This record gives sequence, structure tokens and C-alpha cells, in this order.
Amino acid sequence: MSFNQDSSNGATPDHGTPEHFFMPLIGAYDWLYGQGDVRNTRLYELAKNLSWDADKDIDWQAAGSPLFNRDMPATQRSAIDAWLNDSSPWRGFEPYRRMPQAEKFAFYQREHVWHINQFRHGEQGALLVSAQLCVGAPTLDAKLFAASQVSDEARHVEFFTKYLQRSFPYAYPVSARLKALLDAIMASSQWDIKLIGMQVIIEGLALASFRIAVSESHDPVLKQGLQLILRDESRHTNFGFQYVQDFLTTLAPHDMTEREDFAADACALARDLMLPTPVFTQCGWPVGAAETYARENGVYAKFHHALFGIIVPELAVLGLIPERLSARYRE
Ligand SMILES: [Fe+2]
Ligand SMILES: [Fe+2]
Repeated sequence: MSFNQDSSNGATPDHGTPEHFFMPLIGAYDWLYGQGDVRNTRLYELAKNLSWDADKDIDWQAAGSPLFNRDMPATQRSAIDAWLNDSSPWRGFEPYRRMPQAEKFAFYQREHVWHINQFRHGEQGALLVSAQLCVGAPTLDAKLFAASQVSDEARHVEFFTKYLQRSFPYAYPVSARLKALLDAIMASSQWDIKLIGMQVIIEGLALASFRIAVSESHDPVLKQGLQLILRDESRHTNFGFQYVQDFLTTLAPHDMTEREDFAADACALARDLMLPTPVFTQCGWPVGAAETYARENGVYAKFHHALFGIIVPELAVLGLIPERLSARYRE
């Protein structure tokens, strides 16, 4: 398993050029067509009933966030300026404090666009991995659920693409940390390792990030889309956790070791997944100081809390944190 974070080595794809990769995968037919686990069947039925349409179910005419509208009335602008100076989570960071108002404003827009782009890249990863789960999962109930997830993830990519193209004239490439995590998931030939990486770790983080974004955002279009996406993501993480929990109990100890190491490496990358380091660089900030400040303040501290308060305990319940690795999780 390799976790490559070298951004000069394919981690930043060329815009407009597809990036090809080799994908080993052990597939499975299920010729029994058995009923499978009733919990998976129920989630599949829910997926069919709760399907939505990014074109019809989002009010795309709603006004965007005032924070991203430079032509707002002067009264609104002064309220935003007051927030940027007195309430922003970055107000305690000296390089931010020294910025002129217009640059503080631009920083928030870039940070937002960076995050939404990473959400979109993560959704594309989920689209590809759910298609692989459809092939690799050994039972039909899981294949049917994975097929419904493929359709969900397609709509998630569609929503974020429409949202970005409607509101912002620029985009960010996939971050080196997210790309390394996606590459490691794609490189595994085992469906359950892909599931641990995507459904348990990345989608667990997505759930936490989307919930934070819904509560912090003032953009009605983004909120509507995220709320619909959150409903789907809860199904994906529920399915993933219960399906892999049953499967892991059937593995021999040496097979478990591979899963344990993968989960520890993935969590080490996930820890800083949401830090918009390229935006810090664009602002001319000292990257190390900005990352340290971000880890300890505002939404990034909430994100860390979600990672260590939800996902790590789930990995422990799955039996993926043996004593030999507990020090790595304490780091
Ligand atoms: Fe998704
Ligand atoms: Fe998902």
C-alpha cells in the first residue's frame, strides 16, 4: 500500500486531461440471488425512494452568500467587514490581521472555493469506489446498494459542479493529501479495504464536514444541496460500517494486519485533509504557522474533533486499532 503525497508526481492533475490509472480488483458474482442482510435491503429501498434531482430539487435562483458578493449594498458590506475583523476564526492570526479588508474578503472566498472543490473531488472518488464495490462485494444485497450509491455519488458530483460553475470563475485541483488517500484506495485489489477507506474514513469525514458547512454557511443553495447530500451520505456510512463489520470477523489475523495498517495510514492523512494549504500559500502566509493555527482554531478544530470523536472510535469497534498501533492514533 503506498500513500504518495508528492504533488509533483501526478497529485495535481492537468485540468481538462483525464488521468488514467491501473485498477486491480478482485470481483465476485453472486449466483445464489439470496435475500441477503435485511438491513442492506432496507437501505437500498430507502435509496430508491429518496432519490432527488440536482436540477429540480434545488432553488438555483436563490441569492448566494453575501460573503461572496462584492457588489452588495454598503450596509451589508460594513456588517461583513465587522465580521471579518471581529468574529472571524482567523482574527487571532497575525498575518490575517495585517491584511487589507479586500484581501480578507478574498481569502474567505478562496478558502470556500478550495473546500467545495475538494468536496467535489472526494465525490468523484466515491463515485469510482462505489462502482468498484458493486463489482467486488460478494453478496447481491451489497451490489444492489452499491449500485444505488453510484447513482447518489453521480448527483453529488453534479451538484458541486453546478454550484461551483454558477458562482465562481476559478477552481482548485485535488489536494495532495486527498489524492494520496484516493490513490491508496484505488490501488487496493480488496473491496473491503476500499470500503474502509471510502465509506468509513472519507465519507465519515464528509459527513462531519458537510454538517459543519450547513451550520456555518449563509448560502441557501449550498445548504439545500448539502442537506440532500447528507441524507445520502448517512445511508452510505451506515451500510459500509455494518457490511464490513460482519466481513472483518471472517478474516485471518494476517489479513487483519493489512487492514489495520491501511486504516492507520489513512487516518494520518485524513487528519489534515481539510487544511486549505494552497490558499495559505496564495496569501503569502507562513504555511507551518497557518496550519498550526488552523488546527487549533475555529472550524478546523471542530473537524479534528469529528475525526477523533467519531471515526477513530468506529475503527476501534471494527477491531482495526490493535495495541501495536495505539500510539500512532495518540500522536
Ligand atoms: Fe457523496
Ligand atoms: Fe457517499
